[in-house]
Amino acid sequence: KTVSLIGAPTDVGASVRGAGMGPDALRVAGLYEALRSHKLNVIDHGNLAGPPTPWLPPKDGVRHLEEVVAWNKAVYDRVTAVLAAGQFPLLMGGDHCLAIGSISAVSRHCRRTKKKLRIVWFDAHTDVNNETISPSGNVHGMPVSVLLGHGPKSLVGWSGENAAISADEIDFIGIRSVDDEEKQAIRRLGLSVYDMRHIDEHGMRHTMIEALQDVDDDTHLHVSFDLDCLDPADAPGVGTSVRGGPTYREMQLCMEMIADTGKLASLDVVEINPALDVRNRTAELAVEFIQSLFGASTLAR
Ligand code: ARG
Ligand code: MN
Ligand code: MN
Ligand code: MN
Repeated sequence: KTVSLIGAPTDVGASVRGAGMGPDALRVAGLYEALRSHKLNVIDHGNLAGPPTPWLPPKDGVRHLEEVVAWNKAVYDRVTAVLAAGQFPLLMGGDHCLAIGSISAVSRHCRRTKKKLRIVWFDAHTDVNNETISPSGNVHGMPVSVLLGHGPKSLVGWSGENAAISADEIDFIGIRSVDDEEKQAIRRLGLSVYDMRHIDEHGMRHTMIEALQDVDDDTHLHVSFDLDCLDPADAPGVGTSVRGGPTYREMQLCMEMIADTGKLASLDVVEINPALDVRNRTAELAVEFIQSLFGASTLAR
């Protein structure tokens, strides 16, 4: 298996500056070497290019739409090329708005190769706002809505269909911050949201069994991993932290259960903000989890 590392150094969809340094933080934390030690072939494509973040207020409910489109276009094109080459795209963000480009490309690829798409979205937030309901206008709070076909015209429809994904193709894990109108959208769309209360009451193992139950041989499993899913005590280097996340061990179990499916085929690692981190701890943690996603385990070799 060949893993292609794609850096997208931007904070264009975020609320605070710094997520643009995420790709280098992951490199400094040893991502390339860690994957190599699991006998994977790894190619670091370096960083994509795109416009600087203007830091302007929202226009028609969205901040920096033009720049968000440019960055996502670059991500879309590179993820498309990597998948077409039969490789595994690992997107190093950057903020979570980049999932629009990444998952649009994955969705088009799945339709072409007749694979069933399943997405697991690890996050403190559901990111299902859109330009009419977002309280902030930040696009990192909107990618899921855009992928479901509801968002600014210039971001919707890249997969070839109005909706890149359907509500039953995505499960959310670790949620504990949802805006008021976002709650209505979740109910209206019928999204599967495993919030922290569900995880507290049923345990992470049961939660992940449910989330992964319809993964089969024909499935392309995509993980979109927002590092703010973790408890900020473990992962301080994120721009929109929310207390009360899964523990380190709970998150490791998620990664190990996903690795066990053998179906993981693409990955976003987003929202690491080195400007807010403590000695690169959050990027180092991300590297540990990524190793588990690729099959590292305590006893097996
Ligand atoms: N719900 C808030 C908003 O829409 C925060 C979103 C945070 N998203 C993220 N990917 N960190 O502005
Ligand atoms: Mn988040
Ligand atoms: Mn349950
Ligand atoms: Mn997110």
